[in-house]
Amino acid sequence: MLIDLEGIDGCGKSTQARLLAERLREAGHTVVVLKEPTDGPNGSRLKEVLRGERTADAEEILTLFAADRREHVADRIAPALERGEIVLMDRYYYSALAYQCAAGIPAERIRALNSFAPAPVLVLVFDLPVEQALERVHSHSVADTFERADHLERVRAAYLALRDDPLVRILDATRPPKAVMADVWALVQEATE
Ligand code: TYD
Repeated sequence: MLIDLEGIDGCGKSTQARLLAERLREAGHTVVVLKEPTDGPNGSRLKEVLRGERTADAEEILTLFAADRREHVADRIAPALERGEIVLMDRYYYSALAYQCAAGIPAERIRALNSFAPAPVLVLVFDLPVEQALERVHSHSVADTFERADHLERVRAAYLALRDDPLVRILDATRPPKAVMADVWALVQEATE
């Protein structure tokens, strides 16, 4: 079983992934938490782009994320699923559906390019206003903050546009982690019944 945790930078999904993993382990499950981009060759290239050390256009970025994911599925995700483990993804192809969509790539293309990836049973989108998310993440300069705010507004809109996807649940991430976790747990129970 695969569950995907999503949201804009600063939404708290990594904390929720950790809390959910603890809770599932207490319930007797074997859980693995995996993160994308990975530390593999394509993931490392992507991290250079994200840090601004290397430039790449939207097409290249799309292709690199898909290549990184292909290796991740083969090396870690599919084997864990075959062993019957619960896989919690801290970002997966739904990140591409938000971020690469916000960069102008049509959703159908993103889905087609990622069709090799096993589908999640549930996609949790942790939603909060961009200003609040930016308060949580460290930012370097005012100009940087404005640029990021503009970009994250588009990404947030792309996430909210996924509302009609039957796998997607949107959660109010402005609340304290424990309150958010209560909703997460209820949705996971529902999805695994
Ligand atoms: P990272 O610093 O790992 O962010 P976070 O800690 O918030 O998860 O960087 C991941 C960035 O990559 C993030 O801004 C979202 C972006 N991303 C994509 O654009 N497409 C993708 O398919 C994935 C997995 C991530």
